[in-house]
Amino acid sequence: MEGTEFTMKKSSLFSISALAAVAALTLAGCAADTATETTEAASETAVEATAGRACVILPDADSGTRWEPGDRPALEKALTAAGYEVDIQNAQSDTAKFATIADQQLSKGCGVMLLVDYQGAGISVAEKAKAQGIPVIAYDRPIAGADYYVSFDNEVVGAMQGQMIVDGLAAAGKDIATASIIYSSGDPADGNAAMFLNGALSVLDAAGASAAFTMEGTWDGTKAGTLFEQAFTAVSGKVDAVLAPNDNNAASIIAILDKNGLTVPVSGQDASIAGLQNVLLGKQYATVYKPFTIEAEAGAAMAISILKGEVPATNKTLEDGTPFLALDPISVGADQVKDVVAAGDATVEALCTADVAAACAKYGIN
Ligand code: BGC
Repeated sequence: MEGTEFTMKKSSLFSISALAAVAALTLAGCAADTATETTEAASETAVEATAGRACVILPDADSGTRWEPGDRPALEKALTAAGYEVDIQNAQSDTAKFATIADQQLSKGCGVMLLVDYQGAGISVAEKAKAQGIPVIAYDRPIAGADYYVSFDNEVVGAMQGQMIVDGLAAAGKDIATASIIYSSGDPADGNAAMFLNGALSVLDAAGASAAFTMEGTWDGTKAGTLFEQAFTAVSGKVDAVLAPNDNNAASIIAILDKNGLTVPVSGQDASIAGLQNVLLGKQYATVYKPFTIEAEAGAAMAISILKGEVPATNKTLEDGTPFLALDPISVGADQVKDVVAAGDATVEALCTADVAAACAKYGIN
């Protein structure tokens, strides 16, 4: 289905540009007073060329293990297959750089922009793009003023994380009502962080859990480690579980738990190699798997329908009214890691390194 759409888009773009070129040639052969029309036709060709250009900005290269190794190649593949020229840049955790990249992309020309917000920098870029008539898709993270939003269902992601804590404590034979749980979350400047936390709280509150300590939100793994060390001291080392917003933060937290000889349920997200390894080793209860290819293909399909003048399919609406295409995340415990491998989103070579090899064998990953 999608393959056909992509091919159609490619050929229709080609034929429109070809027609414009033929029109330009024909006009060029006519009388001198057609000069204006010739210019118009030539600029139409230029418009067609930029209409086929997708401009993408990624937020950073280190907050998760996803943007560069996961989303970049998946987006590149999905958009190129759809017949777009693709310009993917990374703001490298810098809001000023985010704005500069956007200005450069917009002056070169974009048919559509797919932005992954970095600390609110996407808002003014979306305004600029829209003022130039360029549709904006907020990719993975919400952006006020974007035309559309495509992401995994963030509240469901959070609910899965809360469930990991509930199930992990039950498996450890601990009473959730009295358990000492550290709550942590992502960067509050990322609209996703509140949705993850709300989802998690909906499950934790209902199960009778409460926070022994609440950490400041961040997507910086190193900072998460420092904040967790402070939390650990604040609760005098009594930790029964840790609500962690993603695998990257979880890894820093687990390193400190390890150092203190503790193994407790920790949540995560992204099905990163390090996260899956921690799950296999029993140091992280589970992770939330959000296949990049699914999100990238959904983003590309959304871009295509907008450019065709169609209304793209959405199934939710954000609080600010932005139409939202919410995709289904998958909770992955040790028994399901093999499914991520089978789907091609993790390799045996990367996962089953020396200290993880025995766990791989135990869970049928070979
Ligand atoms: C994404 C997560 C990611 C985090 C840090 C969130 O907006 O949805 O997948 O781990 O940002 O980059």
